[in-house]
Order: sequence, then structure tokens, then C-alpha cells
Amino acid sequence: MFQRLLLALAILTVGSVQAQTREVTIYSVYPGEQLAPIFAPFTQRTGIQVNFVTGTSQELTKRLADEGANTTADLHLDKDLVFHGIAQRMGLYRPFNSRVVESQVPSHLMEKDKFWTTVFYRARVIMYNTNVVKPSELSTYEALGDAKWKGRLCVRTSKNSYNEALGAFFVKHFGAQKTAEILQSWVNNFSVNPLNGDRDVIQAVADGKCDVGIANTYYLPAFIRANAQFPVRPFFPNQKTTGAHVNGVGIAIVKHAKNVKEATMLLEYFTSREVQAPVAAAFSQYPVNPTAEMIDILKDFGRFAEDRTNVGEISHHVPAAVSLFPVVNYK
Ligand SMILES: [Fe+2]
Repeated sequence: MFQRLLLALAILTVGSVQAQTREVTIYSVYPGEQLAPIFAPFTQRTGIQVNFVTGTSQELTKRLADEGANTTADLHLDKDLVFHGIAQRMGLYRPFNSRVVESQVPSHLMEKDKFWTTVFYRARVIMYNTNVVKPSELSTYEALGDAKWKGRLCVRTSKNSYNEALGAFFVKHFGAQKTAEILQSWVNNFSVNPLNGDRDVIQAVADGKCDVGIANTYYLPAFIRANAQFPVRPFFPNQKTTGAHVNGVGIAIVKHAKNVKEATMLLEYFTSREVQAPVAAAFSQYPVNPTAEMIDILKDFGRFAEDRTNVGEISHHVPAAVSLFPVVNYK
């Protein structure tokens, strides 16, 4: 009897020690409620509990920097390459080390030294009004500066990470001087002042306030689901040159993580085929894992050539791009 009790206690003790140590904490720009269902099977399978701390990009990177070695964060999840580049340059990350992740993610979507990886992504594309514009009239981002688009182009404000990343893509491929010229040619063609969001751009194209605009692919499906006749479709630019600019939600192991092994297991799970398909679907984005299915509406948009420059390299051109917007008065 006594022996049995001792055995039971021993098991309980092992259980409680595991509960104490087997956990990971993610600092995330997405709310915990949105992410919890994604990681519930991971916890079930591994016993590793996943905790979330939510905040804005700026709040979370500041908090990571302020907390330093005292942080409880193991992972940092943010919405695009701009913020991961900032955090990396602040020295907040440590490289991950996992053959599994490397086998599941194309190399250009992982920072080259493995400081962070993209988990799902989108292209930033030309959105055109199907009643007025033929796809054959479109070609590149740069060509939106041609005289034929005068008074027909609308964009989102430059004070937004998606456009900062697009500007960085230009700087990488064309250099700062040419980037300024491209942006200037766009400003000359604006039909309205820069709008607040990508949804506003798509709506403006639909309403005829402009004929072409620039937005992320994942914003369009909701419009089409609500109205199959919605008169806007995406055009993937630069198919014969750089490929379309892509950017995505990323994750990193933080420099002072206490649970590196568990965090690495989470990265492996997050980039696995079984998780990639439903998660990318929930966000209407492309899975990074090429073996995972994408949603039908994205398949309907068609296959496209994407820029194969490493996402980390693009992120390091962001400061140069940001300095060019005011020069050309792109507000
Ligand atoms: Fe967005």
C-alpha cells in the first residue's frame, strides 16, 4: 500500500515538474484567442503549454529590449519582415537550429542566418478594376508611373510597414536613386491622396476613384466572398524580372529564451504541412511549406513568380526606403 502511494506521488511529482518546465511563451501581435486553437494539438501531443503576451509591434520589441535577460519570452511573432528586421538589428533574436524547419521552409523565406523565419505570406500586387483595365495593359510596379496612369493610381500611405517593405524591395533591386524616381512617378499619377489601408485602396478601385492600386493579396478574398462580381482582381507584377514582392508573418526565438528546445519544437510544428494549410487558410495567405494546400480563392488568383531575394536582406533595406518617401512627397 505504502509502496503504491510512493509510486503515485513519484508520478505526480514528475508530472508537476514537467508542467513547470515544459512551456513556451510567445510575444505576439496577434491575440492569444486567435492563436490558441492552432497550438492546442501541439500542447496535447507534447505536453508543452503555450502562453501568449499580446501587444503592438513597437510595444513588444521595446518590452523585449527592456526586459533583456529577465524576459519570459521564448518566441516573437510579428506580421512582417519590417518588424523582424528591426528586432534582429536590435539584437533581440538568437538563430534557430532545426533541420526540420529548414526542410519545410524555402530558404529565401528564412532569414539567412536563421534569426527568424516567415510562417505564411502574401504578395503585394496591383489591384485593377476589371471593367476598365485589361491585364495586358499591366506589367510592372515601375510601369504604374507611366503617363497613361495619370490620375488613375491610388495607394496606401507610406507610413505603413507593407509599403516600407515594398520600398525596400525597390532599393534592393534598383538602388536608391531609381527607387526615388519610381516613387516620384507614382506620386505624379495619384488620383487621390494616399489612403489609410489596403481595404480602402481595393474599395477605391472598385468605386472608380482610381483604376489601379496596390494592396496585399489576402485583403481581396473577403470582398469576393461577399460579392462574386466584385470588379477587382489582382495582377502579379514583375513576372519577367524580379518576381512579385512577397512579405509574411514571421517568428523568431528570442535571444534570452529559457525554453529553446521547446521553442524549436514549436517552430517545427508551426511550419509542418498539417498546421500550415489550416493556419494559412485562416489568414487567407500562402503557406510557406510548399507541400501544404492553399485555399481555392488564392489558387484562382493563379500561380506567380515571386521575388526570391532573402526576406532578411529585404528587411535591411527598409531604413533606406523609409528615408526616400518624404523626398518625393509621398505622404
Ligand atoms: Fe494586413
